[in-house]
Order: sequence, then C-alpha cells, then structure tokens
Amino acid sequence: MAEPVRIDALELENVKRVRVVEMEPSPEGLTVIGGRNGQGKTSVLDAIAWALGGNKRRPDEPNRRGAATPARLRVELSNGLVVERKGKNGALHVTDESGRKAGQALLDEFVGQLAIDLPRFMAGSDADKATALLQTLGIDEELARVDGQIRGAYQDRQLVGRDAKAKRAHADRLPHHDDAPEEPVSVAELVAEQQEILARNGERQAKRARASELARAVEADRATVDALRTAVEEAETALRAAHARLEEANDRLTKDAADARDAAKTAEELEDESTAEVEAAIARVEETNARVRENQAKAQAAAAAAVAEAEYERLDGEVERLRDERRALLDGAPLPLPGLSIDEDGRLTYLGATWGDMSGSEQMRVAAAVARAAKPECGFVLVDKLEQMDPQTLAEFGAWAQAEGLQVIGTRVATDGTCDLVIEDGRVVGADVSDPEPEKKKEEKPEKKWRI
Ligand SMILES: Nc1ncnc2c1ncn2[C@@H]1O[C@H](COP(=O)(O)OP(=O)(O)O)[C@@H](O)[C@H]1O
Ligand SMILES: [Mg+2]
Repeated sequence: MAEPVRIDALELENVKRVRVVEMEPSPEGLTVIGGRNGQGKTSVLDAIAWALGGNKRRPDEPNRRGAATPARLRVELSNGLVVERKGKNGALHVTDESGRKAGQALLDEFVGQLAIDLPRFMAGSDADKATALLQTLGIDEELARVDGQIRGAYQDRQLVGRDAKAKRAHADRLPHHDDAPEEPVSVAELVAEQQEILARNGERQAKRARASELARAVEADRATVDALRTAVEEAETALRAAHARLEEANDRLTKDAADARDAAKTAEELEDESTAEVEAAIARVEETNARVRENQAKAQAAAAAAVAEAEYERLDGEVERLRDERRALLDGAPLPLPGLSIDEDGRLTYLGATWGDMSGSEQMRVAAAVARAAKPECGFVLVDKLEQMDPQTLAEFGAWAQAEGLQVIGTRVATDGTCDLVIEDGRVVGADVSDPEPEKKKEEKPEKKWRI
C-alpha cells in the first residue's frame, strides 16, 4: 500500500470564525491548535473536513460573517494533490502535481470519513462503535454469527436446564417400593396355578373313593364268609363244596385285605395342598401391581430427567465452545489498539471499560485508533477538545500517534506550551500575516507561513 496521505499545508481565509490561518502540521504525531474559547479552533477542523469531505461536510454558514470576501480553503496533501474551495459557492478544485484536475471521488479514496468526523463516531451508540471497529477488522458478520449462536445456545441451555430441574424434582417426588417385583403380577398365572392344584386334589379324591369302595368290599366278603361258615355247619352234605368255596373266598379275602390295607395306607398318606397362598396373592395383586406401576413411573421420570440433564451438559459445552470461538476470533483480529475488545453484549471496550466508563482521553485514543484502522490510506485524523487530556496524557497520546505514524491535528482550550500554535480572533498568534481586511487588500497573499 502507498504511504498514508497526510496534510502538508493548510491555508484558510474567512471560513466560519477563521479570519486567516496558515499552518504546516507535523507529518507525524500531534499538532495542537490552542486558544481560548470561541477563537476559531474548531472552525479550522471544520474547514479541513469541508475541504476534503465533500459537500455533505459543508458548514451551515461557511463564510465568515462580516468578511468582504468569501471563504477560501487550500489544502496541500502529501500525495501531491492540492485541494481548494473558493468563490461564492465554495466550489471544489482538485489538481494533481502535473496540474491535472480531479474531483471528490479521488479524495474519497483516501479521506477517512471517521478521520474528519470523529465526533460522529464518539456520539454513536455502543453498538455503532463496535460495528465500526468490527467492520474495520472485517469480522463483523462472523462475530455477529457467533454471538447469535451463543445467545441461541445460552437460551436453549437455560430452557433445558429448567426442564431438567423440574423433571428431576418430579422423579424425586414419586414414591418407590423396594419390596415390589419389577414386573406387574398376572392374575391369570395365579388362577392357572390354583386350577392345577384343584386338579391334583381331584385325582386324590378319586383315589380316596376307590379306597372306601374296597373297604366296603371287605365288609361284604366278611359277611359272605360268615354266612358260608354257618352253611358248612348246617349242611354237612354241602361241606366239601362249601369248603372249596370257602377256600376260594379265603384267598380272595386275603388279597382284598392286602389291597385294602395298601389303599387305606395310601389314602392316609394323601394330604391336600393348600391354595391359600395363591388366593392371598390374588387378593394382593392389585395392591402389588399399583406399586409396580409406581416404581416404573418413577424409573421413567428419572430416565427423562437424565436425558434432559445430559442435554443441558451438551449445551453447556456448546456455549463454552462458542465463547472460545468468539475469543479466538477477536484474539486473531488485528485490533488497532492493545486493550480494545468487544464484549459479549457487543459493546466496544477498552482496557475492560465500556465507552461510558472510559475517560475522555481514552475515548479519544480509541476513536483515533478506530478511525485510523477504518481507512489505512488516510494518514491523518482531526481531534477536537484535547483539553480533556492533562499535559502528561496529551504527551502519551502524541507519542502513540507518532509511533503509529499517524498525523493528529487537534484543538485544545489552552495557550500554554502544550500548544503548537495559538489562535486568537481567527488568526494564529504571532503569525506575521497581513489582514485580508479591509477589502481593498483582499487579493493580497500572506507572506509568511506559520511553521512548527
Ligand atoms: N460564519 C461565521 N462567521 C462568524 N462567526 C462564526 C461563524 N460561524 C460560527 N461563528 C462563531 O465562532 C465561534 C465558535 O468558533 P469555534 O471555531 O468553534 O471556536 P473554538 O473552537 O475556538 O471555541 C462562535 O462564537 C460562533 O458564533
Ligand atoms: Mg472548539
């Protein structure tokens, strides 16, 4: 890039409060225009702004009241251009070293809008200032995107956090029964079990019936034996036959008695199982299942809370990550002044302080640095009201400007050694220049320039 353009020399006549001012500001660092209030200091800056900034910077009343000739401005720039405004309408004339004519468009290429209008930057909102800086750095859109994401993730995290908290509280409030089974108990299973027991009991009942049948048979056999004994006694003739039948009956008796004994014994050993436990279980099923359902509901609520808590953790990490991204973005940007930053609310800060908390001199330093960065082609900046800086701060500011290679033309309500020139009643004190008044001498040129 070519050298930043600076102001080599300035000649003003009858502009606002200025009668005649000629100066050659320092090419680098601070040139302080001093003077008491109302003597024409700010008029000098306004004149430069009009000369270089175009008609939108034209003062409401550019011609000095009571002057016989209209305002005349001449600015010599370090790139060889000469900018003049003269005549009734303050028409612009731009000529290059070889005498070729140019216009406002050429001036706009290197004249920084902030550099000639720092008050506009200083009067802007916090957001305007931050935007000016970020645009300068070329990261305004990127930072706005990250900041938007941070706000989104932060809001999401807040919502999810509230949700997780409510869900956890809900899960904690629900009752839990340590003694309830994991799954609900089925009545059908218990009824089937009961049916099986009843079936087995039925089989036992049949065996018992068989045993008593056999017992009755024994009774009948005994009666038969008795009757036949009587018949043997009574019928000798039938003795042999009867004897034979007796033996048969005796055999049968022996066998049936043995069977009967076995059967009786088996029947005695048979004992019915109880369904009482199952019945009690059936009666308890509703109660048990109610508790199982409660346990399941609690487990579900706890799971939902855990999901929400995990989401909160994730968003928390996301917010952190985005903040890191933002920090890296700002850290990676070549900020025009050490200590300058943009906080998370999008406000410009200097050494941790927002604009409103900065001292007047800090504000000026920040504004000058931003103006400088906004238009690197512009090697000068105009700063009004330097009286806000004490002599030491002023010296530091001048040293900074010097180190930056920045030409600062400033005004200061002072007439002491802090000033490079002092203006009184629209003229440079001590400058040996002829008065353009009275009218007769209006074309006469000043012979000597004030030099610093
Ligand atoms: N066109 C003008 N002709 C004459 N006086 C003017 C004109 N415009 C402004 N003034 C006067 O100039 C004074 C302010 O000049 P200014 O350059 O701001 O002084 P300073 O910055 O030294 O305090 C005010 O008194 C104002 O009325
Ligand atoms: Mg002023």
